[in-house]
Amino acid sequence: MGSGGFTPAAALNVFVEAYEAARTVAELIRIYRDYGPRDTRTRCRLAFLIEEWGIDRLRQELAARLRRELEPAGRDMRRSGHADHLGLSPQKQPELTAVGLCVPTGRIGPEQIAELADLSDTYGNGQVRCTTGQNVILVNVPKHRIEALLKEPLLQQFSPNPSPFFRKLVACTGADYCNLALIETKRHAMELSRALDQRLGKDFAPMTIHWSGCTAGCGNHQAAELGLRGCRTSIAGKAVDAVAIYVGGRTGPNAVAGEQILDTVPCDEALPSVVAGILQQRALIKNSRLQSAVCAASSIQPESFSRKQHAEARFTSATGRRDRQPPRTAAASISLPKTTKAMLCRLDELSSGTGQKMTVMGKTLAVFVMEGQVIAMDAECPHEGGPLYEGTVERGCIVCPWHGYEFELHTGRCDTDPNLSVRRYPTFIEEGDVWIDLKDESIHR
Ligand code: SF4
Ligand code: FES
Repeated sequence: MGSGGFTPAAALNVFVEAYEAARTVAELIRIYRDYGPRDTRTRCRLAFLIEEWGIDRLRQELAARLRRELEPAGRDMRRSGHADHLGLSPQKQPELTAVGLCVPTGRIGPEQIAELADLSDTYGNGQVRCTTGQNVILVNVPKHRIEALLKEPLLQQFSPNPSPFFRKLVACTGADYCNLALIETKRHAMELSRALDQRLGKDFAPMTIHWSGCTAGCGNHQAAELGLRGCRTSIAGKAVDAVAIYVGGRTGPNAVAGEQILDTVPCDEALPSVVAGILQQRALIKNSRLQSAVCAASSIQPESFSRKQHAEARFTSATGRRDRQPPRTAAASISLPKTTKAMLCRLDELSSGTGQKMTVMGKTLAVFVMEGQVIAMDAECPHEGGPLYEGTVERGCIVCPWHGYEFELHTGRCDTDPNLSVRRYPTFIEEGDVWIDLKDESIHR
């Protein structure tokens, strides 16, 4: 993320059993010690050695040092979704629960940390775990103690169910404690998230928001859906904090670098408006892209009454560009037609393995293709309302991006909590068009 820019990790293609892991990593470190670049401080990174050698040479050197053939990695079992562990998560032990708490920007004072330790002694087993999102988890809390724990004053500061703009907020140390920093990251991050809460409301889907105080990128700003990197600018001759803004980054097996769309935006009272505008625009584009494509691709054909009827149903409820309205306003102002069937999209507009969000007759759906079959289900996770269309498809299940609960695509049953299930709707395909029937809701449950 730092010098050299955003570079997704390259796969070494080695299968390592647990007992061999420490030795393997030690040899990799020795290879870096012996051959790693030392010319300049900014190039003292294993990444630059890999860039120079290529991954195959590194693998050969590793095999030589381990004095054996290396097993190939086999099937990639990584998940692309990321569970943030906030809220209540059932543990493998049926009577115990893990409670994830949001520590905004990871900043916690001495009194708060002492209180957190007390809570873990009182309700759990004395353990507190930290997450990569700068949050904490109290583990091993018996179910009958949850209600009392949720009433504790510290949980009013460190919420298990934070607003969408704090939930996945990460900020590097910044000017408070880092002498490379160009700006104060944590204070600006808190102010911006508070302002976005007020402007965009709590219904906005949680998104990763990462701040780095300089180009070193310790806050992983290019790995976030919204990334902010500190810089300086001058207003009326006075140097002020500013940010470059990135969008669309993500980590995991299909990592993508966030793209810089704005440079040198001052961190003043206008910043929330700039960012809110970007987020609203991106949400609208995401919601309407597919529906606009559907409207364009399937213009009403007068010779087909049924197609025309269903197309009308779709046009009146779709929220594509035709409406020129934000989705909720458009859906609320229409009178729904009597038919319960509507065309969703063309089959070839769906791609296997990824979910799509679609709105039909005012109902928001998550739509997937699996083994040639189109599966449509309620978009909201029955656990705490996570967006299932943003989840990952694994082993025939959709994995909710918020807490990782798994729902079988063919039945809607939840494998993580048997008391939950997600509602599915029958779909059928006619001449390459995908149709849905919203009336017969429980047919596949
Ligand atoms: S990104 Fe820059 S400011 Fe932030 S911790 Fe790293 S070096 Fe310091
Ligand atoms: S698993 Fe918690 S909202 Fe989906």
